[in-house]
This record gives sequence, C-alpha cells and structure tokens, in this order.
Amino acid sequence: MKIAFASSEIVPYAKTGGLADVAGSLPKELNKLGADIKVFMPKYYTVDEHKFNLEYMFSIGEIKIRVAGYSHAVHFFEGKMPNSNVPIYFVDCPKYFHRHKIYTNDHDEDERFILFSKAVIELLQRFAWAPDIIHCNDWQTGLMPMFIRDNYSWDRMFNQTSTIYTIHNIAYQGRFGTETLSKAEINGNYFYPGGPVEFEGGVNFMKAGIMFADMINTVSETYAKELLTAEYGSGMDPFLNSRKSDLYGILNGVDYTVWNPEIDSHLPFNYSINDLSGKLKNKKYLLNTIHMPFDENVPLIGVISRFASQKGIDLIAGIIDNLLQMNVQLVVLGSGEEEYEEIFRHVAFNNPLKVWSYIGYNDDLSHLIEAASDIFLMPSKYEPCGLNQIYSLKYGTVPVVRKTGGLADTVQDWNEYNSYGLDIGNGFSFEEYSTYALQHAVDRAVNDFHNKPVWQKIIRNGMNKDYSWSVSAKSYLSLYEKASQRRKRLS
Ligand code: ADP
Ligand code: GLC
Repeated sequence: MKIAFASSEIVPYAKTGGLADVAGSLPKELNKLGADIKVFMPKYYTVDEHKFNLEYMFSIGEIKIRVAGYSHAVHFFEGKMPNSNVPIYFVDCPKYFHRHKIYTNDHDEDERFILFSKAVIELLQRFAWAPDIIHCNDWQTGLMPMFIRDNYSWDRMFNQTSTIYTIHNIAYQGRFGTETLSKAEINGNYFYPGGPVEFEGGVNFMKAGIMFADMINTVSETYAKELLTAEYGSGMDPFLNSRKSDLYGILNGVDYTVWNPEIDSHLPFNYSINDLSGKLKNKKYLLNTIHMPFDENVPLIGVISRFASQKGIDLIAGIIDNLLQMNVQLVVLGSGEEEYEEIFRHVAFNNPLKVWSYIGYNDDLSHLIEAASDIFLMPSKYEPCGLNQIYSLKYGTVPVVRKTGGLADTVQDWNEYNSYGLDIGNGFSFEEYSTYALQHAVDRAVNDFHNKPVWQKIIRNGMNKDYSWSVSAKSYLSLYEKASQRRKRLS
C-alpha cells in the first residue's frame, strides 16, 4: 500500500498542537506495518535543515507552482523522520512559509496552503509515484481531494488514487472570500449556494475536504458521532450527515517513545508503574524550581493547553477563586487568548505559593508538568481526541475531564465505573459544561487523592492502559483498504 501523507505540522519539525504529534507518529507506525509511506509538510522558517539533516533535492530542482495567477518558484528538501526510514519532503517557498508563525491571519493564508497542496501533488508527479492513498489532514490540505479529482484529473497517474480526509478539529475550517476561487483555480461548477466548496457565501476548505474525499474520519468514535449534531458540527453537520456512511472515528494513538515516564529524556527522574518514587521527585524538583513549597500531601494540579474556548479554559478561570481556598497547588502552561493569559499571569503573581503559570510554549516543561502533577485538568467544551489526558494516564497523573469526544473515550470516571463494580476508573469526568460541575469533579478528585489505596488504584488503572498506535494504525490501514478498493472499482 503506497501512501502520501500531508500535514501542515509535524513533530519534531513544527508544532502548535496535537496534529503535529499525530503526524509525527502515525506514519512511522504505518511504515512498521509494511506501508510504503511518504510524508509532506511545508518548510517553515523555523525548520532547520542542519539540525534535522535535511538535504536540498537537486534531483527535483525548481518547480513552478501556480497560485493566485503567479508561478511561484518552489524547491524541496528531503530527510528521514527521526528513528525511522520514513522519507519526509519539505515544500520550500520562502514567500509563503518564512513567516513568524505557522498559521497567520495574513491576507494570503489561503494561498499558502493552496501552494502546499498543489506542490505535494506536483512532486508526486515528478516522482512518477502514484499513491494508493493521499491522506489529508485538516483544512490546510482540504482542497487536495478536489484537486486530485478535478484540476489534476488529466493526469491518469491518479486514476486509482483515493483520498482520505481526517478532521482533527472542525472549528478551524479555512474560510475565505470568493477571490480564493480564482487563486486556487477552483472549477466554477463547484461554487453555488450549497455547492461542495461553498459555505455561507465564501470558500470553505474543510467542506471541500468533506465533500470530495473518498473517505472521512475523525480522531475518536465519540467525536465522529458528535460531529453529526448541530451542537458540535460547526455548520458542517449537514454535509457530514450526507456522507455519514463514509465517516469513521479512529482514536489517536500516542508515541510512547516520546511520552513514557520510564524513558522520557525531558525528565530529571524517570519512573514506572512499579516504582512511582521518581514521580514524587519530579514534583519536588518542579516545585523547587518554581519556588513553591513542596508537600507530598498537597495535590498539585496541572494544566497544559491552548487558551482557546474549546479547552474550557473559561471554566478553569471560573473556579480559580475556589482553588485558592483549597489546600491545592496549580501549575499552568499555555498561551492563546489574551484575556486568559492575563488572568493566569495575575493569579500567579498574587499567589506565588499556590499558583504558577508559564505563558508561552515550552515542550520540556510540558513533559515535566505531566510527570510532576497529581491531577490534570482538561474540561474541554469539545475535544476531537485530546492527547494530554492520554499522556496524563501514562504518567500516573489523574485526569479530570469533561465527558466529550476523545476525553469520553479514554477517561473512565472512578466513581461511576466502580459503582458498577467494574474497577476500571482511571480519572474523573463530568457532563454539564459549568464551573459547578468542574468544581464538583475536582472536589471528588482531591478527596480521593487523600485516600492513598484508592488513589494508587486510579493511577494504576490509568498507567496500565495502552494507547499506543498499534491498534489505531491498523484501523487506518483497513480504512485505506476500503477506500482504495472502492476507487479501483470506480476507475
Ligand atoms: P490540541 O491539538 O487541540 O491543542 P491535544 O491534546 O491533541 O490538543 O494536543 C496538544 C499538544 O500540544 C500536546 O502535545 C501538548 O503537550 C502540547 N501543548 C499544548 N500547549 C502547549 C504549550 N503551551 N507548551 C508546550 N506544549 C503544549
Ligand atoms: C486537534 C484536536 C485534538 C486532537 C488533535 C490531534 O487539534 O483539538 O483533540 O487530539 O487535533 O488529532
């Protein structure tokens, strides 16, 4: 099975969120299962070719890619994904990708990812390598399925190529004005009220992905069901409903070579389920470093999050006064909406013994907080999959989550499940999106924290769970197989 996998962010080269973690690990897992896979991403300014051993592709040289009426000179770099033989190709076009951020609000944001999508296709042509599957991820590659079936359909090489579109987050859709039609040379027949690339009068890359891909999936089973409702569908629910029989939910796996407390090189102390003493040492180390008092009996609550309404950050801010009254400590790592950056900066400044915040992005710190905390808060309004709660489970850090999307599929409420005598509770969850419900779940967690045998059991239930890619990568392979067989029948 030949697979071209395209993503706008990939660990370790560029990351803003979980998509990068997924794109950095799933291809390697597919490769282990025997897939012949090539990976593609833009070469942002921050992707350092020396650090990552990337080589300029003299064999390809320059390809001119037409976007917004101009032919842009595009070059390519190649390398191998770390600890693997999986080839990764970088689309280099400084005009579009040498910016201060991966995603921007610049007027040509559409052009940046039109160029990326076309460049991947044209590089495949140069390779004369016809994949069985082109796997697209999120809106940035949402136009690729349409390009393959329409703009590049003259190339018979792609006749038997099918496309998979993975929705990591329906809220970010790539919505642009009608000028995008000509910039991307979108077939006018697709743009009319209700047409496959039209949404509310503009061009919508997410919708195009949904309408043109052979198969669609999202990153948990619960979110796949939620997406079909108006509450969660962000306007895409009617189109997803129209393609319901081609919509699947496949839970993300995690890369336990990166996120595993036994071998995590970011941690001063490694530990395992058999000996949790290192976990306590990490807690002491973190608290010392940030000048907060250490007390084994005071639960340390961790938060690592984009500060976006998706993440329920307003709920956390809403219970902060209560948390200050409790005998707990809080560490927060995140950035995003300014209002919340301010709130956490202020609370930490005014309560230096109880709250600490780091406003920004810091990979080392995210590992240390996962290891050092006793409890992890993730009260998301919606959560397609969520990775931090899965990391938390592995790190013996008990998650408190809202029961939605991937959070519902990975965290089993201790009280609820134990009351059924199932003995599988690994965290705490609540349904209603309210500060009251979150506070109640936190109270339950803190209460059980003080009951050592119960807490040990909850931790163990979490650490024992296996969320490696082994299961999910196989589900992707069968999805590819299904899509590919259907396309081959059609062509
Ligand atoms: P999302 O992709 O919606 O942000 P996920 O839980 O799937 O949510 O993935 C978030 C990823 O980004 C995790 O790997 C998490 O550790 C990381 N992350 C989020 N915020 C920060 C931050 N401020 N610093 C470092 N890592 C972060
Ligand atoms: C998105 C979602 C998150 C998911 C990640 C990777 O950013 O918000 O829930 O884990 O993609 O699929």
